[in-house]
Amino acid sequence: MIQVLRASWNLHREQLLAVRREVFINEQNVPEEIEIDELDPIAHHLLALLSGKEPVGTARWIIGENKCIRIGRVAVLKSNRRDGIGSLLIQEALSDAKKSGFLRAHLHAQVSSIPFYSHLGFKLTDIPEFEEAGIPHREMEIQLA
Ligand SMILES: CC(C)(COP(=O)(O)OP(=O)(O)OC[C@H]1O[C@@H](n2cnc3c(N)ncnc32)[C@H](O)[C@@H]1OP(=O)(O)O)[C@@H](O)C(=O)NCCC(=O)NCCS
Repeated sequence: MIQVLRASWNLHREQLLAVRREVFINEQNVPEEIEIDELDPIAHHLLALLSGKEPVGTARWIIGENKCIRIGRVAVLKSNRRDGIGSLLIQEALSDAKKSGFLRAHLHAQVSSIPFYSHLGFKLTDIPEFEEAGIPHREMEIQLA
């Protein structure tokens, strides 16, 4: 049973970081000083909990310009993947943003996760592939209204 919590950086920081550390720092070798950044205290965080208590997934979104949000830090623990948790996190983030009047969402997708975001309706933009934390990325976006 998966529950998606609207998490607060102050209250749920350790649970959010338990997932992000495992996925980005341990699995993908992203340096900690890049992974945890100045946007965390102001971002909207979502936390996927298994059986109401075990943190298994995260996502966050921040407000950009022109009624656009930027989604990031989308992570699901390896042992819980391909079970719809990542999709649920993105759908809930998009639903929250839409209810708040935002018109578009964009993100920097790791090239390996393009099929995941495409499955959710995101489209590649014209921006060519670029590197972040040594990992190839493409920008993707979706219209919310
Ligand atoms: C990307 C990630 C968040 C996906 O989470 P998830 O919970 O496994 O995703 P879902 O189960 O909701 O997948 C939904 C659909 O996306 C597609 N998909 C997901 N992972 C995929 C993969 N590795 N390769 C191809 N398609 C994939 C499939 O169509 C899948 O549906 P299916 O399982 O019925 O075939 C997860 O793999 C992850 O944490 N990866 C490491 C961190 C990362 O790369 N984050 C993205 C940073 S931009």
